[in-house]
Amino acid sequence: DWTMRAFRQEAIAAIRAQVGGGRVLCGLSGGVDSAVAAVLIHEAIGERLTCVFVDHGLLRQGEAEEVVRLFRGHYNIPLVHVQAQDLFINALIGVRDPEEKRKTIGRLFIATFEAEAKKIAADGRGAPEFLGQGTLYPDVIESVSFSGGPSVTIKSHHNVGGLPERMNMTLVEPLRELFKDEVRELGRELGLPEAFVGRHPFPGPGLAIRCPGGVTPEKLAILRQADAIYLDEIRKAGLYDEIWQAFAVLLPVQTVGVMGDGRTYEFVCALRAVTSVDGMTADFYPFDMKILGRAATRIINEVKGVNRVVYDVTSKPPGTIEWE
Ligand code: XMP
Repeated sequence: DWTMRAFRQEAIAAIRAQVGGGRVLCGLSGGVDSAVAAVLIHEAIGERLTCVFVDHGLLRQGEAEEVVRLFRGHYNIPLVHVQAQDLFINALIGVRDPEEKRKTIGRLFIATFEAEAKKIAADGRGAPEFLGQGTLYPDVIESVSFSGGPSVTIKSHHNVGGLPERMNMTLVEPLRELFKDEVRELGRELGLPEAFVGRHPFPGPGLAIRCPGGVTPEKLAILRQADAIYLDEIRKAGLYDEIWQAFAVLLPVQTVGVMGDGRTYEFVCALRAVTSVDGMTADFYPFDMKILGRAATRIINEVKGVNRVVYDVTSKPPGTIEWE
């Protein structure tokens, strides 16, 4: 695509002009945006980029391995993989309020990132002056106002906000003018594997905001399994690319069921799937009931702890895509 080829060259020139001979630190979330930003910055300044991937233990099944494989294996980009699972889960135990969860995760994320940045700064070459981020155009406007009305914070979005000022760093945001579909196009142009480029968006606070009512390691394990089965059924039905985002939510509700000749009393799992162009508005996905039925049967049979599955038919607005 000639537009993206031209954008790539212009963006590289702009990054070089901004950064000069300086160093850039880039946080990877596991998502497409930060990956594309990092690969682009790497192309512009090479080894003067260091990537930091904070594994907060709230990722989907197999996600951390995929990111590490992509960066170290495919691109050979230096990557610091921080194992911070215990830190995050310990701070989240007992936190039930959605905004409180988001803020706790955001705060820990910044602290972890900052500690790693200091280690990198101590390596003899001095502190990185720049912080790379995969901010997109909708992130820029959604954080300013919502549906043209007065400026209201619906959800505090998780990024490394606050860090640039504290560490005296300047932001490098090469994707600020792009929409999601354009970022994917740019990712293809940069040679990112199709399976990675086409991945559904995933929120920074991760699975924590898909466990309403409180996060525990047990709930995360149940949610991870249910989510993987649901996505597997969507892929088998050939619908993954048609859907903007699909995921499971583990509800803090137990219901009675019957399995074999016994009574069960286990959690409810909600399934969500939406179509969207930019995440700002969305419609629930009108599945063929057979596909939902197959996913529900498999989740109940294969995931210990779930005995009922429901489907979310709310569009955005009035619902948001994520439940918290
Ligand atoms: P909502 O739930 O607000 O989500 O309708 C819109 C899109 O944004 C994603 N999302 C986030 N992404 N950090 C992110 O990077 C966040 O804190 C966050 N919260 C929601 C959500 O998955 C959807 O694609």
